[in-house]
Amino acid sequence: MRQLTEESLTHAVLAATDTSVDPRTRDVANALIRHLHAFVREIEPSEAEWLKGIEFLTRTGHTCDANRQEFILLSDTLGVSMLVDAINHRRPGNVTESTVLGPFHVHGAPALPMGANLAEGVDGGSPAFVEGRVLDGNGKPIAGARLDVWQVRPDRLYDVQDPEQPSMQLRAVFHTAADGRYRFRTVMPVSYAIPDDGPVGEMLRALGRHPWRPAHIHFIVSAPGHAPVVTHVFVEDDPYLDSDAVFGVKDSLVVAFEERPPGMAPDGAPMETHFHVAHHDFSLSAR
Ligand SMILES: [Fe+2]
Repeated sequence: MRQLTEESLTHAVLAATDTSVDPRTRDVANALIRHLHAFVREIEPSEAEWLKGIEFLTRTGHTCDANRQEFILLSDTLGVSMLVDAINHRRPGNVTESTVLGPFHVHGAPALPMGANLAEGVDGGSPAFVEGRVLDGNGKPIAGARLDVWQVRPDRLYDVQDPEQPSMQLRAVFHTAADGRYRFRTVMPVSYAIPDDGPVGEMLRALGRHPWRPAHIHFIVSAPGHAPVVTHVFVEDDPYLDSDAVFGVKDSLVVAFEERPPGMAPDGAPMETHFHVAHHDFSLSAR
């Protein structure tokens, strides 16, 4: 393995992988080597450009901490997260479509009772009531299905982006009743910019792209014996539905949040302001 040339280098690197290693590891590594070499051959980077790439990835790593995951953001904004999602969730047509998990999910959200206010203690925002059912692939209600719900605050930040505020704001776990129903109160979801003060933001600006995501609520819906789904409910008529910075929008996940005048809310509470009502059923496939 000497005198390697522009032409022979790729083969030599592929041949260096020991044939006794785990076959999946070998396949993944060799595909990465082949595609990386093809990429470099295509763009023919100067050494300064190559170093700029190394520095970009280094800064992406340094931007990550316990609350910020710049690499997930990079994957999301390059469309890789949605591609991985599509490959892993080739579902039948009657099952809720999946979309990106995103970098803001937190484990351990508190379990709240049916009808509780997800936005308790959160400032601002217009009240919204969300309800629906969790169904199996045959349209039969699933009792005790779990809905892990999280949402950005009206000030367009997730709680984890604001260490000054209490944790677990706009995060909760709900369970469906015997008839498969769930319902909760929240505030109207708002569109927000993904964190663009780091390397991913630089990349977006360099590519002439904006950092905005259309308004949505995140859900992970799961039930014993069924495949869980990581998904969103998007707000109909949001101006960013056709240019989501992370390519996550699917038509079946876009839901009307109907505005209602002051009066009685769906939970019977008297409302002195306008409020919104949304209905969305989730369908899970059997495992
Ligand atoms: Fe989000």
